[in-house]
Amino acid sequence: MGIINIMIAFLFLSFSIHIVISQSTLNNFQRLYLPSTSVGPEAIIFDSLGRGPYTGISDGRIIKYNGSSFTEVYITSPNRSRLVCDGRNALGLLGPICGRPLGIDFYYKENLLYIADAYKGLLVGANETLAVQLATEAEGVPFKSPDGLNVDQLTGEVYFTDASSVYQISELPVAVLLNDSTGRLLKYNPVSKNVTVLLRGLGGAAGVAISNDSSYVLVSEYIPKRIQKYWLKGPMAFKSEVIINFDGRPDNIRKSPRGDSFWVAVTTTNLVDGTIPKAIEINGNGVILRNISLDRYYSTSISEFSQHGEQFYVGSLQARFVGKFN
Ligand SMILES: *[C@@H]1O[C@H](CO)[C@@H](O)[C@H](O)[C@H]1NC(C)=O
Ligand SMILES: *[C@@H]1O[C@H](CO)[C@@H](O)[C@H](O)[C@H]1NC(C)=O
Ligand SMILES: *[C@@H]1O[C@H](CO)[C@@H](O)[C@H](O)[C@H]1NC(C)=O
Ligand SMILES: *[C@@H]1O[C@H](CO)[C@@H](O)[C@H](O)[C@H]1NC(C)=O
Ligand SMILES: *[C@@H]1O[C@H](CO)[C@@H](O)[C@H](O)[C@H]1NC(C)=O
Ligand SMILES: *[C@@H]1O[C@H](CO)[C@@H](O)[C@H](O)[C@H]1NC(C)=O
Ligand SMILES: *[C@@H]1O[C@H](CO)[C@@H](O)[C@H](O)[C@H]1NC(C)=O
Repeated sequence: MGIINIMIAFLFLSFSIHIVISQSTLNNFQRLYLPSTSVGPEAIIFDSLGRGPYTGISDGRIIKYNGSSFTEVYITSPNRSRLVCDGRNALGLLGPICGRPLGIDFYYKENLLYIADAYKGLLVGANETLAVQLATEAEGVPFKSPDGLNVDQLTGEVYFTDASSVYQISELPVAVLLNDSTGRLLKYNPVSKNVTVLLRGLGGAAGVAISNDSSYVLVSEYIPKRIQKYWLKGPMAFKSEVIINFDGRPDNIRKSPRGDSFWVAVTTTNLVDGTIPKAIEINGNGVILRNISLDRYYSTSISEFSQHGEQFYVGSLQARFVGKFN
């Protein structure tokens, strides 16, 4: 009896702890709706004054939330037509005309917004208009599908990914089917204006995040479902290692405010459970710290999960809103 009581107490305790954790981290789900008919808030950031979220959407605009609605702040394509593009969720043929901003991040010190656009390459915006193109190739190989981006706030260097050197974002299903591994991890140096290739042979290079001491970057591979760690300093410098394998597909990686952990947006799809988007918090060694299922709120894949202050935000290529947990 005694043992059973203890076991029941233990089970109850574990159960309560689980409930407490999920309630204390994820509460009050809110939808911040995009301009009507728009979809696909891929990455989510805030500016140096804490304003936002800012996000890039499928019709080629980067928009900013002002507390009640989203307004346009940047476009990435010089020949973009509002009539053709606004609200059209452009990929494929419309992509080169409208642009498709995916990875975005500020360099706070200089108030610059860096952008990885799936069709327009690496760009930078400064005054809320048309962003300026910085690079479209590295080592003579053109970017085909620029995707994730993270700025090192200490040096101003920009880490970004090209998901594939062969397939565009609209051809992702083919890239997955053929196990493409032509993705690259890249670095833009704002002083020399040079782009260098850090890692090649990646399978759907997606998210990228730099550590708080600039000693390594993490890069997710959507196709082989894993994260590699690439060292920038120390005895392991310029080497890389797989630190975690997932059962789902990882997309963006964002450093958490505590500084020594990262949130990864991972979507698992199988015949039994269907599509289960998850927010998985890992440390720099690939150890899972938290694993939160978001299938109550999303029936589609998610592209990003990130924390700003006490709030959590969710991006998704299919959603018509930015998700927010208070
Ligand atoms: C946000 O922007 C919309 C559209 O420009 C405007 O109508 C609204 O008043 C703004 N809200 C705030 C809180 O600034
Ligand atoms: C738009 O401009 C890009 C280069 O900036 C070019 O590749 C593309 O063909 C142009 N599209 C149209 C419709 O002019
Ligand atoms: C942005 O605006 C500021 C002040 O108006 C100006 O000094 C700066 O050169 C502009 N930057 C770009 C990239 O246009
Ligand atoms: C830019 O990169 C190329 C090739 O990686 C190198 O040869 C060149 O010296 C670099 N330029 C600068 C200014 O660093
Ligand atoms: C798919 O590509 C990855 C590298 O991205 C490689 O490790 C793996 O062996 C490949 N799988 C098959 C079945 O070819
Ligand atoms: C950076 O991360 C390390 C662990 O990787 C931690 O010890 C340190 O406190 C963090 N620093 C900041 C400023 O967050
Ligand atoms: C997350 O937790 C679920 C059970 O709650 C488990 O099935 C799944 O494998 C975990 N995922 C990871 C990546 O640890």
